[in-house]
Amino acid sequence: MNKRVLITSALLYGNGSLHFGHLAGSYLPAEIYARFARFTGHETLFICGLDEYGAAVTLSAGKNGQSPQDHVDFYYKEALKNFGRFDFSFDHFSRTTWPRHKEAVIEFFEDLKSQNYVEKITTEQLYSEKDQKFLADRYVEGVCPKCKFENARGDECPKCGASYEANELTNPKSKLSGSPLTLKETEHFFLRLDLFKDQLLDFLSEKNWRPQVINMAKQYAEDAKPRCITRDLNWGIAVPGEEGKVFYVWFDAPIGYISASKDWAEEINKPKEWEKYWLEPETKYVQFVGKDNIPFHSVFFPAMVMGQKKPYKQVDELPANAFFHYEGRKFSKSDGWFIDLDDFFSKYSSDQIRYCLAANAPEQDDSEFSWKDFQMRVNAELVGKFGNFINRTLVFIAQKVNGEVLEPKNARDRDKQYLKDVSNLTDIIKEAYSSFHVRKATQLIMELATLSNVYFDETKPWELAKKDISRMREVLAHCLIGIKALAVVSLPIIPEAANKIWKMLGFVDNLTDSNYDERLKEPLNVKARISKPEILFQKIENDMIEKELEKLKVLN
Ligand code: 2FM
Ligand code: ZN
Repeated sequence: MNKRVLITSALLYGNGSLHFGHLAGSYLPAEIYARFARFTGHETLFICGLDEYGAAVTLSAGKNGQSPQDHVDFYYKEALKNFGRFDFSFDHFSRTTWPRHKEAVIEFFEDLKSQNYVEKITTEQLYSEKDQKFLADRYVEGVCPKCKFENARGDECPKCGASYEANELTNPKSKLSGSPLTLKETEHFFLRLDLFKDQLLDFLSEKNWRPQVINMAKQYAEDAKPRCITRDLNWGIAVPGEEGKVFYVWFDAPIGYISASKDWAEEINKPKEWEKYWLEPETKYVQFVGKDNIPFHSVFFPAMVMGQKKPYKQVDELPANAFFHYEGRKFSKSDGWFIDLDDFFSKYSSDQIRYCLAANAPEQDDSEFSWKDFQMRVNAELVGKFGNFINRTLVFIAQKVNGEVLEPKNARDRDKQYLKDVSNLTDIIKEAYSSFHVRKATQLIMELATLSNVYFDETKPWELAKKDISRMREVLAHCLIGIKALAVVSLPIIPEAANKIWKMLGFVDNLTDSNYDERLKEPLNVKARISKPEILFQKIENDMIEKELEKLKVLN
């Protein structure tokens, strides 16, 4: 892995609250990778922010009787609060309504325009005489051109799934007022994606991405054609010299990764620091997104970057995830099919949910959150395997050797075998994190906990306590090495527990202050004393899960 790593997560729409679907798809895998990158000695910048423009924002703001600005201000605060509760370690969380973003977007556009990569084209779009304006797709409904469904949306039919241009709808009308719409000519800027087709295909040919990601990317590159990048709206970044037009949200949003990095650099009082990440080719750039964002990150934004005069970094890795559902259905706040985070965090912890979402990460196929699985992950895995090994060892040490931090002195074959297994697993776990296999990392961590429990059970320190104290000390010394390894390998996923374990082992510095490999090699702090261990994870009782499921039954 390169020395310097830039990590971005898809900017969150400023239009609703964070839910587990977003977290499992684009955010938690990035967060885990960012913690891992820092912990393996990489100079890391982890960037995210709020994606605040687009017709979806004006539409929901209007429904709430709010201005778009008030609407996104609310969701910005929500986002900060929620990412904080999940212990996220962003270096910066920006907003696309901040001024540096506007500057960056205009610069992108002017560069593209000056090299003839954008072109003004006259198109026919749906116009409301009543409102005296063109309506964005989201404001339009009509009869589906394919199946004749009456209430088809502006860009896709909820009945037959067809996707089309809004001007293909029969009897189009405004979703807001119900008034009929007519086609009227309007001029828009189009990005000439077609001019980048060969360059895009070359760029993609070198990528070793997940098959579902690279296949979709290549398909979109093959089909590259001019794409409209402006809209007749008043909420967005105004197109220079054009009255009433703003940039399409998918044009401005990805530039947000750059403007957010600039905001970060200003915030740390090193205004040029962002250039190290964006303008130096040796940076490794990893973008975490959901599968619906693949075309924008693999084709659309790379083409925009290719059309710049500055040599911005292109994406190197795009570990896009599939979708993540809730008890068999899509998360939907409007249908009540969601988890209220205030309620959730009044009962459960960040580590519990981070672990459960990582264990079910939708890396290959769609996956889901279910309360029964959550209970099983916490009770059987975190408490029953991981926590159990740490707790039984530390309790035993507190009781039998007065909390002494023991060192191995006279290892037998069984002990050596245990250390070898620990070392093999810590290597493969590192590899799993490096290659974005978070799900596999959780399985391997549990394997480490399981084989540690087996070692404890086989060597029977409780029997040794009655007959062979020196052998008992040897076994416990090895168990401590296993516990140290568990803290190190689990830090990216369950940082709170990992740091607690580190302190319980008697280390005075923070686990994060050093590096994965060094921490594994480091001897235990024999001068310290182990006190009675703290509880790492609370068990989840059946009645708690039943109550959660009851809430969903009324909706079914
Ligand atoms: O799909 C989404 O949630 C978008 N808000 C992602 C934008 S990613 C980037 F380009 F900003
Ligand atoms: Zn249809």
